[in-house]
Amino acid sequence: MSINKTATTQYPVIDLIRQRWSPRSFADKAISPDDMHTILEAASWSFSAMNEQPWRYAVAYRGTALFDTFSSWLAAGNQPWAKHAAALVLSSTVTSFASGRPYPDALHDAGAANMLLTLQAGSMGIGVHPMAGFDKAAAESFLPEGLQPVIMLAMGYPDTHEKLDEPYRTRELAPRTRKSLNEFLLNAE
Ligand SMILES: Cc1cc2nc3c(=O)[nH]c(=O)nc-3n(C[C@H](O)[C@H](O)[C@H](O)COP(=O)(O)O)c2cc1C
Repeated sequence: MSINKTATTQYPVIDLIRQRWSPRSFADKAISPDDMHTILEAASWSFSAMNEQPWRYAVAYRGTALFDTFSSWLAAGNQPWAKHAAALVLSSTVTSFASGRPYPDALHDAGAANMLLTLQAGSMGIGVHPMAGFDKAAAESFLPEGLQPVIMLAMGYPDTHEKLDEPYRTRELAPRTRKSLNEFLLNAE
């Protein structure tokens, strides 16, 4: 049984956004390649500077050698729960345009694609948990020349918090909070 972490919002935000959260407990259920491809295609429909589409992904399904490699790069605080994900997806980006010109907004664009991926996955009942806590030097050596690691995404069908040890179990149930509009809207009326 998955956990309900729906955001309580001040304004009528759409359900897909209200219901997105970063789960740590995953069911022992695989993500089919077709579903994964749907999720990755959703990422590709993001916006990007000059439509350069800088994002590149490497997908590792649990039970494969690549998954074990990705899992071994995870920080100590991520490995205990993320190793049970159905897939670990390495998000990376090119750092210059095809013309060779520097692409300072590449990280922005890769991050935006990651959010579309996350919302598409959420609409299919699949949770996505982004992690910066992994060995980026190892990821960089794994990636083809010129690609920069962005984030590791743990993906899977969310499951009960009871499968987790502390401190993750408590964190899994903690309410999600956000700054209110007047804390980040610079010119609020
Ligand atoms: C760039 C980035 C790095 C993150 N790194 C980690 C991480 O290493 N470990 C982790 O448990 N969560 C990580 N998170 C998840 C955030 O903690 C989470 O998105 C935030 O607390 C808000 O919770 P929510 O996504 O459930 O709304 C990361 C999120 C982002 C965007």
